[in-house]
Amino acid sequence: MASSRTLLLALAALAPATNAQNFGGSGRAADDFTYVQPLNTTILGGYGHSPAVYPSPNMTGTGGWKDAMAKAQEFVSQLTPEEKAWMVTGAAGPCVGNIKPIPRLGFNGICLQDGPLSIRVADYASVFSAGVSAAASWDRKVLYERGFAMGEEFKAKGAQVALSPVCGPLGRSAYSGRNWEGFAADPYLTGVAMEVTIKGHQDAGVQATPKHFIGNEQETQRNPTLDESGTNVIQEAISANIDDRTMHELYLWPFANSVRANAASIMCSYQRLNGSYGCENSKALNGLLKGELGFQGYVMSDWGAVHSGVPSIESGLDMNMPGGLGAYGMDPTLGSYFGGNVTTAVNNGTLQESRLDDMIVRIMTPYYHLGQDKDFPTTDASSGVLNTFFKKKDWKPEEWNMTGESSRDVRGNHGDLIRKHGAEATVLLKNVNKALPLKAPKSIAVFGNDAGDITEGFLNQKSYEYGTLAAGGGSGTGRFTYLITPLEAVKARARKDAVVEQHPDRLEQHDRPLEPHSPEVCLVFLKTWAEEATDRKHLSVDYDGEEVVASVAKFCNNTVVVTHSSGINLLPFADHPNVTAILAAHYPGQESGNSIVDILYGDVNPSGKLPYTIAFNGTDYNAPPTTAVNTTGIDDWQSWFDEKLEIDYRYFDAHNISVRYEFGFGLSYTTFELAELKAEALAQDIPAAPAAEPVQPGGNPALWAPLYNVTVEVSNTGDADGATVPQLYVHFPDSTPAGTPPQQLRGFDKVLLKKGDKTTVSFELMRRDISYWDIVSQGWVIPAGEFTLSAGLSSRDFRATAKITPVKA
Ligand code: NOJ
Repeated sequence: MASSRTLLLALAALAPATNAQNFGGSGRAADDFTYVQPLNTTILGGYGHSPAVYPSPNMTGTGGWKDAMAKAQEFVSQLTPEEKAWMVTGAAGPCVGNIKPIPRLGFNGICLQDGPLSIRVADYASVFSAGVSAAASWDRKVLYERGFAMGEEFKAKGAQVALSPVCGPLGRSAYSGRNWEGFAADPYLTGVAMEVTIKGHQDAGVQATPKHFIGNEQETQRNPTLDESGTNVIQEAISANIDDRTMHELYLWPFANSVRANAASIMCSYQRLNGSYGCENSKALNGLLKGELGFQGYVMSDWGAVHSGVPSIESGLDMNMPGGLGAYGMDPTLGSYFGGNVTTAVNNGTLQESRLDDMIVRIMTPYYHLGQDKDFPTTDASSGVLNTFFKKKDWKPEEWNMTGESSRDVRGNHGDLIRKHGAEATVLLKNVNKALPLKAPKSIAVFGNDAGDITEGFLNQKSYEYGTLAAGGGSGTGRFTYLITPLEAVKARARKDAVVEQHPDRLEQHDRPLEPHSPEVCLVFLKTWAEEATDRKHLSVDYDGEEVVASVAKFCNNTVVVTHSSGINLLPFADHPNVTAILAAHYPGQESGNSIVDILYGDVNPSGKLPYTIAFNGTDYNAPPTTAVNTTGIDDWQSWFDEKLEIDYRYFDAHNISVRYEFGFGLSYTTFELAELKAEALAQDIPAAPAAEPVQPGGNPALWAPLYNVTVEVSNTGDADGATVPQLYVHFPDSTPAGTPPQQLRGFDKVLLKKGDKTTVSFELMRRDISYWDIVSQGWVIPAGEFTLSAGLSSRDFRATAKITPVKA
């Protein structure tokens, strides 16, 4: 079934990328850009190819999995060869991904559902805040509650596996279409968010699937271009070419946190990595993930990301989703690179049965570990009705475990949580003349096409002109059961005090005077769409939002702008004197209007912080996605990550570029001060390299050992109660190899303080936090010499410093 292409791809897995160009320097992205990858056949810089790492390590059960692993082994011992093949291959069924039930063994199958902000293919489920919003809260409690509550809903709907959370993309490029599904353009904050979310999902009894492993930093050309027949590859998918140090210090970092949190599964990504496809890259899957990080779960493919059978399996892929033939189509009824081919490969000796058994043991261990063999809810039959992924004729409902109540309402009181989370994540970027919080204004005018009701249904699968935006599009979206709009929430809140004038439209000429006189405050709601499978074309707010602000601010000297956006927006109107406040509310989920009203009226004091940098111009950002090639070679789509560690603030800081609002920035209705930063060593005679301890999930446990306890005093110096996020940045000593960013986030904590109160916050610095990845020794090393630690209220607002010298020069 997979013959010639299988062979080709097997070779590609070992071969260096060709026809690629290291374009040198950091490519700049323009405001409305295309970035054409120039042709060059020279590979510079020693990366762009992927070494072979075989065989695929077997799981060992280390890290608390042993009991469940024994049950999984017992299960595997009872399977027929055919059943073994189907355990690793998706089938058409009620969910987005399905592993068939085996009734004779009491196995009810596995239902896999998207995604990172909601169980998407479901009715009566909640739409939570998107990853970017959750990250903007900088609050572990919010992140955990969100992960747990989502997990409860997946479980109640009968989905064993949540295809969530996302840390790839990490946010290399401001333009990537899926950054909002993930958390922050920083591995540390994202790593914490992953760990806490995974714990939330799994504590609720659902398997987490961190995705997409690895280097999935752009959407353009994430899959190969096929000819008209849909069977022959004209050009392969983009190759993300990442050097070893960058891989470890940026892109692998949050996956290490995920593995340490005992994530059940990891989804490999569509694009190529250093020349070979993400789901058949043995260096990434066998080497980094199962070897170095000691991953004990299973590697699941992204949907249609499998391009070969045995080569993928030997490279570490454990499950083919949704079945089917990868780039040739995603219909599992058309056959699969796995399925019957796996049986054939075992029978003819091409594939060792022990590898197949390890795949299934990896798949079934989390199932037993989370108790999914006992009293797990049946799959809600409504999922099968709503699922458009498979043709109804291709599967038989009676073969699936869907006997329970249909259309179960699984939302519980999650609306209250979502409202709270939305408010906690809202970032106040500008606030002059004490414009906010609102003080019971008598007249309010509401503008902008983001203010009112959605006009195109609740599926959220495209950018619609009229209606508020609370989630992005693609598999990471949610199906709303209701959505509180800003307009309805403002009207409800203002009813007793104010007249609310409504202009929830796009671009009217707002320069005529409002009757009978100008409103006390003008609220302008703007939005920015982003979705899977396409990258953003620009960083402005959509639908002429900048012009809408300009036209309102012309007559209204108290213009407050709120953005509902996938992430980075240039905010030129921040300079306008009549724009008195700006709030970035990102994608807050179903309670959007209530969350923003809680902030506008000061019921909640803003404490969100930017999880990325807002620059002055689109051209200020580096690391653009490759959006086009001028040549026709099969391998010509290449993206060289030659900015290396310099993404987002690391880049702006390294090049002293002024920015409008820096990473970690966010105002409050009160003020805070930090003082007395102290670092206490928790170990004596710290060696530069860690002792080689047996690998546990997350890698060498010595990397996670706390070496310093760092404390800082935080005071609320203003006149309102409120929360803030003290942030700890580490500046490495000069002995660290070139390319080390000037400062890197290595600690944060959100604290709530009454006005006038003070508290001490502590951060644990672990070995990994003060190490760099040494490409020579292939290990983490603490550089010799003095580190500076800075505690701040953003990445450019340091209030206290301390020095440590873990390893003498
Ligand atoms: C493709 C997306 O990349 C992935 O994130 C998602 O889980 C699958 N489709 C299933 O919808």
